[in-house]
Amino acid sequence: LTIACVRNDGIDDHMVWLIGLKNIFARQLPNMPKEYIVRLVMDRSHKSVMLVRRNTVVGGITYRPYLSQKFGEIAFCAITSDEQVKGYGTRLMNHLKQHARDVDGLTHFLTYADNNAVGYFNKQGFTKEIYLEQERWHGYIKDYDGGILMECKIDPKLPYTD
Ligand code: ACO
Repeated sequence: LTIACVRNDGIDDHMVWLIGLKNIFARQLPNMPKEYIVRLVMDRSHKSVMLVRRNTVVGGITYRPYLSQKFGEIAFCAITSDEQVKGYGTRLMNHLKQHARDVDGLTHFLTYADNNAVGYFNKQGFTKEIYLEQERWHGYIKDYDGGILMECKIDPKLPYTD
């Protein structure tokens, strides 16, 4: 099992994995329009951290880093159905935090969580209280009434992966 962080950069393997991840999102997030999922997963300002086993994607998180604002917006997060609740979602999130901090220089994540995923995000350190100053994120992320805005502060020093 490997963890990769890729974006739409034209590399063959990356494109195959992004399509695999897009298919997992489409199945696991049935309320999201498929065209919207494709658009963001393939958008060059988004990145995807994903778990790949024998060249097959098991799950992933697609996010947009706002480098000047030092926060990232998680757009989609899902694990394929027969691999859920085995700890993969936690591994992904830990890897994402480490990558976002050490490569992108981010300090926070924001996401609109689905009602049924609030428990998962809570366990990953996300809260419904937004401590990040409005000026840093207002106007950057779009309002979306299908979910609950949640925030996570990335620890500046903690080793999130081993
Ligand atoms: N509600 C409450 N708790 C949950 C949920 C949930 N839906 N899913 C997992 N957990 C808990 C687990 O019980 C576990 O708790 P523990 O540490 O006390 O044992 C902890 O969260 C971590 O579990 P993992 O096994 O790491 O989670 P998993 O690999 O299943 O990934 C995920 C979680 C991504 C939510 C997955 O279940 C999934 O794909 N669900 C369907 C799609 C979905 O809802 N995605 C999020 C939508 S919101 C968005 O994309 C911005």
